[in-house]
Amino acid sequence: MSVQYPGLFITVEGIDGAGKSTHLPYIHSVFRKEGFNVLETREPGGTPVANKLRDILLQETLAPETELLLMFAARNEHLQKSILPALSEGKCVLCDRFTDSSYAYQGGGRGIDNEIIQHLETWVQHDIKPDLTLYFDLSVELSLERRALRNQEHNIKDRFEDESPYFFERVRQGYLDRIKQQPHRFYVLNGADSIPIIQERLSDFLKDWLRYYNTTDRHPMHG
Ligand code: TYD
Repeated sequence: MSVQYPGLFITVEGIDGAGKSTHLPYIHSVFRKEGFNVLETREPGGTPVANKLRDILLQETLAPETELLLMFAARNEHLQKSILPALSEGKCVLCDRFTDSSYAYQGGGRGIDNEIIQHLETWVQHDIKPDLTLYFDLSVELSLERRALRNQEHNIKDRFEDESPYFFERVRQGYLDRIKQQPHRFYVLNGADSIPIIQERLSDFLKDWLRYYNTTDRHPMHG
């Protein structure tokens, strides 16, 4: 672990409908109760310019390469103007999606070579990586059922949600490949479990993880 900043960088990932939005408020509350000042944010977005890029990304038809470049353009703004300043103030940054989404959606889903994504990742992030990534895993079948229900209620579909089940199978595989490559950074939750079961798992895991984390030199502010 590198000593770059005193804060904590936590990301939450999963295919659309896997349960991120349902569980984010609970995850936020666990860190707050553990004494952290939490900045909750999301990608694409998180700054005024990145939010403008988000509108383009979610609404316009783009070539896959353009989509990837805009994701990283938004990420660069977000990192420099919001995430890194918060981490250097010792905050816990809780981010709904980050670079693993680019590997899963633009890499797995759109078929862009992982090496190209890695190149952009290194250029934009240097060696900044989430300290922990909570991944909500769910079958594509169940995620489609949940999304159909949600869209009936709110009609909040974006461009990605119009993609085929095959696209989402590739996205999910993109995540699973990523987890195989960096197993220590991820904690995998079963998105099909009930809300109370997921909350119990999250609470137990995060408390243990923070205890371990606080005993390392990595985190002097909260050690
Ligand atoms: P959003 O409405 O925030 O979806 P969700 O609630 O499922 O997180 O839309 C974000 C969409 O952007 C989502 O479908 C995934 C996609 N995305 C990428 O394709 N690549 C990325 O790097 C990021 C951050 C998001």
